[in-house]
Amino acid sequence: MDDNVNPYTPGSGTPPAELVGRAAQLTAATVLAQRTANGLTTRSPMLSGLRGVGKTVLLNALRGELDGHQWLTVKVEAQVDRDARAVARRQLERGLVAGARSLASRAGRVSGSLKKALSTIGSFSLSVGPITASLDPVKGRADSGVLEFDLSELVSDVTPALAETGAGFAVFVDEIQDLDPTTLTALLTVQHEAAQQKWPFQLFGAGLPSVPSVLADARSYAERQFDYQSIGALSPQDAAEALVGPAREAGVTWHPEALDEVVATSAGYPYFVQEFGAQAWRLAPGPRVITLPDAHLAREAGTEALDAGFFRSRWDRATKAEQRLLRAMAVDGDAPSQMPDLVSRLDRRRQSDLSVARRDLIGKGLVYAPARGELAFTVPHMAAYIRRQHGLD
Ligand SMILES: Nc1ncnc2c1ncn2[C@@H]1O[C@H](COP(=O)(O)OP(=O)(O)O)[C@@H](O)[C@H]1O
Ligand SMILES: [Mg+2]
Repeated sequence: MDDNVNPYTPGSGTPPAELVGRAAQLTAATVLAQRTANGLTTRSPMLSGLRGVGKTVLLNALRGELDGHQWLTVKVEAQVDRDARAVARRQLERGLVAGARSLASRAGRVSGSLKKALSTIGSFSLSVGPITASLDPVKGRADSGVLEFDLSELVSDVTPALAETGAGFAVFVDEIQDLDPTTLTALLTVQHEAAQQKWPFQLFGAGLPSVPSVLADARSYAERQFDYQSIGALSPQDAAEALVGPAREAGVTWHPEALDEVVATSAGYPYFVQEFGAQAWRLAPGPRVITLPDAHLAREAGTEALDAGFFRSRWDRATKAEQRLLRAMAVDGDAPSQMPDLVSRLDRRRQSDLSVARRDLIGKGLVYAPARGELAFTVPHMAAYIRRQHGLD
């Protein structure tokens, strides 16, 4: 059928035509906004899960929810970078300036507290340069360059203006496991302080399954600071709805057997649902129905596309030595590998013989440590790909 109107959205952070299975998280964000308006504090959600399960899409949807409640929201996408700290600060500054400008434009009159909030944003964001006169920076406020102090002053100056309208200030950090330690501890500390001072400030995050332990290592109280949500595969019903809903909009139906086939092939992983759905649409002669033979073709074409793109791009990022470690992990399928097993599979003597490859693969975002002494893939079905394409030693 016509690819120009293909409603499926395989990608990274690409909003799906229908966001299924996330009603609980979206409702929780509405409740958080309402509680804030009532002067109550609430723990922020911290989303964790494998790549491709829909964390970025959900984080953006949660941000949209708070934007709808007139919050000041800023998003940072953490990256592994030599200049990670400066990059994160610049993202915060740019986001704040943009947020402040819309805040100023929608406020009918500039109250004393709003004026103060805008000035502090101006001085915090000096590197962005003078954007508008309303961000008239005040010297000595949130401009020390020490992020922890600056953030604390920023939040304490900005939140009173937002509280006047029952709103708040939220920072959204995607790939939070990659945030540099200084920025991470500063944000956690300020969030902690905000909860005590009842400043309406929230830190929303998303990242790999290692996020809870990464945060706990940064600040011991982080364990109690967030509402940790593990985001995983969709239920078969939700996966089916993610396929049927967008087709229905276009007047196309899925034959029940075809639907079962694609739901099973994708194992409910949102990225795979979108990829196999897109292939089925593309390969179906149509015009109005997707049939079982279409679904079979989609399984082949989708697997090829994933192997050539999604999986291959990750595999190619690893050095030869790292690929040997990945191959040894693939023996365990999608289950975590135990370090001692990997050591013996690779004919090494000690775990320390693998520590460089292990560390670099974690740095590249290909694997993570679900627990001490364990290693697992960050993408679902990576093990099956390695077996298919690269064999096992
Ligand atoms: N709730 C959902 N329902 C259907 N498709 C989704 C959902 N969430 C995400 N997707 C799709 O899954 C893919 C991966 O989403 P993304 O947010 O980038 O995942 P992550 O950040 O966890 O790696 C995208 O193609 C997106 O369109
Ligand atoms: Mg993401």
